[in-house]
Amino acid sequence: MGVIHLPARHRSHRWLVACLIGLVVIGAWLGRALLFESWTLASLPAFWWSGSDRFLLSAAGSDFDVSFANYSTTQTSAAPFDDRVPPILHHVAMGGAGAARQIEQWKEVRQSCLDIHPGWEAHIWTDEKANAFVAEQFPELREMWDGYKFPIQRIDALRYMVLYHYGGVILDMDLQCRRALGPLRRFDFVAPAAHPTGFSVGFMMASQRNPFVGALVRNLRPYNRAWLGLPYPTVMFSTGCHYASTIHAYQPNRTTLKVLAGPPDNFRLHSLNGHVQTPIFNHLGSSSWHSYDAALIVSVGRMLGHKLPILAVVAGVVVFVVVRRTKRRRAVRV
Ligand SMILES: *[C@@H]1O[C@H](CO)[C@@H](O)[C@H](O)[C@H]1NC(C)=O
Ligand SMILES: *[C@@H]1O[C@H](CO)[C@@H](O)[C@H](O)[C@H]1NC(C)=O
Repeated sequence: MGVIHLPARHRSHRWLVACLIGLVVIGAWLGRALLFESWTLASLPAFWWSGSDRFLLSAAGSDFDVSFANYSTTQTSAAPFDDRVPPILHHVAMGGAGAARQIEQWKEVRQSCLDIHPGWEAHIWTDEKANAFVAEQFPELREMWDGYKFPIQRIDALRYMVLYHYGGVILDMDLQCRRALGPLRRFDFVAPAAHPTGFSVGFMMASQRNPFVGALVRNLRPYNRAWLGLPYPTVMFSTGCHYASTIHAYQPNRTTLKVLAGPPDNFRLHSLNGHVQTPIFNHLGSSSWHSYDAALIVSVGRMLGHKLPILAVVAGVVVFVVVRRTKRRRAVRV
């Protein structure tokens, strides 16, 4: 019996190798969306800074005083420049009973921002209001939005949808306003720089139906994955700061998508990490959640960003193993 089997096994071995190579190619093709998204996310640290002299706010590049010393604290309009950002303030307070507590806890802090922008439209996005808004304006995203595993994903995604639909200013509940945001209204989009790459989504300003914010809404679906199967990467890569910064990095022209940072010798002047005071805000909450996350993801990203060829090979092997296992399982079932 052994005599008959040996040559056949050799032949089948060669066939097997050919099949497996074929499967890797097919697997890579089928998984190309995943490979592309993984690559964009992992390479953010390598690409974020390209052309930053055009999108970072500065005296030289945008004739803007990032210390805000030149502007009155009550300046609610960009005049003599055109106001691109409409006079609307948005706060998000979602998450059932916790949201009511949040509204109560940060009532005066939020009021500080309303008071310094008299006459502005103000929205507070509770669960009820957010559900109705998404159902009406983004019905195609509703099921996915409802199905997000982590509450922060629903909050982040809502930020982009609200900002796209209305334009205006999105503020975290724990940001106390030290001055009016008028000087920044001349730009189509503004968000504060995060450390060491990207920007934070706790404060964003945008014109209504801004194409970049539209891209943030449109890409929610393709990036909605259980990244690495872990909570932090899942949140950061599907809806959080890392996601938004990645979409920013891949915009064809980032000139109008401003990022607010300090001058080179004090780059973190506007960073909202932790309990800090910036020229515009007192950040009263502790967003240790976000900073821990960012640090973790960015270090992983930086590692991978410089090792893209290796990442590609690893991805190939993973696809190969998965496809083979699926095939084997199917064979067993047959
Ligand atoms: C701020 O004001 C000072 C003094 O008037 C002026 O020299 C400087 O150019 C201004 N900076 C910006 C960015 O407007
Ligand atoms: C990018 O946009 C800015 C502002 O709209 C424009 O001045 C510039 O020419 C654009 N750059 C390219 C390469 O299209």
